[in-house]
Amino acid sequence: MLLCAIQGDITKLRVDAIVNAANSSLLSGGGVDGAIHRAAGPDLLHECRLLGGCKTGDAKLTKGYRLPARFIIHTVGPVWRGGEHGEPALLASCYRRSLEVAAAAGVESLAFPSISTGIFGYPIEEASTVAVGTVRQVLAAGCPVQSVTFCCFSAADLAVYRAALA
Ligand code: AR6
Repeated sequence: MLLCAIQGDITKLRVDAIVNAANSSLLSGGGVDGAIHRAAGPDLLHECRLLGGCKTGDAKLTKGYRLPARFIIHTVGPVWRGGEHGEPALLASCYRRSLEVAAAAGVESLAFPSISTGIFGYPIEEASTVAVGTVRQVLAAGCPVQSVTFCCFSAADLAVYRAALA
């Protein structure tokens, strides 16, 4: 299994699937969600409308449309409310469910953005620990996904993920 962190725009990555940090309506917002919808094109929104939303901590699959990635896995992270409202378990669930959905679709290479750490306000150090720890645990338990990339938007975020991976 291969785990790495890079800095870049997740919409450009040539992997089997990318994960979207969506909201529960799945009807597109700002941040990485907006970037993915712009890059994938309007057919993505049509497919998302048929999914009936997504609960916090769950994940749903769509096609990738105009993206280099074949699939998009839409997950909904928790809004940070101080850390005592189940945020770590919900964030871990996003990573676990995304890997399960990826495995069911035959995905071998998967890239995650830093879920919840933008508009949803989750502190990046804590979020990166949950992200790396959960992905390691799921892969060690026999998940067939071969490679996972943490795609960080800023150099500062990349440094935090590199430290979490070290
Ligand atoms: N590639 C990789 N990472 C990106 C990109 C990109 N193109 N653009 C932004 N990021 P956010 P959240 C990073 O706010 O906190 C939306 O409106 C960004 O710098 O996108 O889970 C949804 O519809 C940050 O590190 O997601 C929801 O309403 C990370 O992606 C809400 O925002 C996540 O930031 C979800 O909030």
